[in-house]
Amino acid sequence: MDVLAEQRDYYRHRAPEYDQWWQRQGRYALDPEAERGWFADIDEAEQALAAFAPAGDVLEYAAGTGWWTERLTRHARHITAVDANTETLDLNRRRTAGTGKVTYLTADIFAWTPPESTFDTVFFAYWLSHVPESLLSTFWAHVRRALRPGGRVFLIDSYHHERLAGDLQQRHLNDGRQFQVIKRYWQPAELESTPGWRLKARVTTHRQAIHAHGTPI
Ligand SMILES: C[S@@+](CC[C@H](N)C(=O)[O-])C[C@H]1O[C@@H](n2cnc3c(N)ncnc32)[C@H](O)[C@@H]1O
Repeated sequence: MDVLAEQRDYYRHRAPEYDQWWQRQGRYALDPEAERGWFADIDEAEQALAAFAPAGDVLEYAAGTGWWTERLTRHARHITAVDANTETLDLNRRRTAGTGKVTYLTADIFAWTPPESTFDTVFFAYWLSHVPESLLSTFWAHVRRALRPGGRVFLIDSYHHERLAGDLQQRHLNDGRQFQVIKRYWQPAELESTPGWRLKARVTTHRQAIHAHGTPI
C-alpha cells in the first residue's frame, strides 16, 4: 500500500480512539507538568485562532473528529469540513451538527479540487505535516484557488525541533496495529518562506505546537 493510502487507513481505524490523544488519556497520558504544557499550548493556539477571527465561509481540510471544527463554529458563518474518512466525519458530525453550520464532505484532499474563490478562510490543523514534499505546491495552489479575494489561511500543527528521516513516522493503534505516515515537521522560518504566501508563524510557549496565518501574495 502506498503511504498516502496507509495514512488514510491509519486515521480511519484510529477515529474512535483519536480524541484520547487530544485529551491525553490512556497511552497518550503525560506527567502533570507536561500535561499542563500541552493544554496551555492548545489554549494558546485556540486564542491565536480566536484573535485571527475566522468569520464568514471556512474550508477546513482534514477536519477529523472536529476538535477544531467545533471551535471554528464559534466564529464562522459556515464551514465545509473535508476529510477522507467517513469514520472521522461521523464523530465530527456528532460534535458539531447541532450548530447547523457545517457541511461534511468525504474526499481525498489530493484528488479533490476545491471550488474557486468560495471561502474567506482556509483552515487546517495537524494536516500540513502529513502532506508529502512532492504534493506541497499543488496543495498550496488549491488553498489559493479556494480563497476569495482578501481571503486568509490559518494552520496549526505539531512542533518538533527537527525533521525526521524521510519525513516518515511509524504509528500504532491501541490494539498494536502498525502504520506508516508522512510527518514533516515545520520550523517557523520554513513556513514563512512558503512560495506565493505571506505567512507569520509562531511556536507555542511549551513548544508543543506551531501555528501560522497569512494571505496569498
Ligand atoms: C492528524 S488528523 C487531524 C484531524 C483534525 N484536523 C484535528 O486537528 O484533530 C489528520 C486527518 O486527516 C485525514 N486524512 C488523512 N489523509 C487524508 C487525505 N488524503 N484526504 C483527506 N483527509 C485525509 C484523516 O482522516 C484525519 O482525520
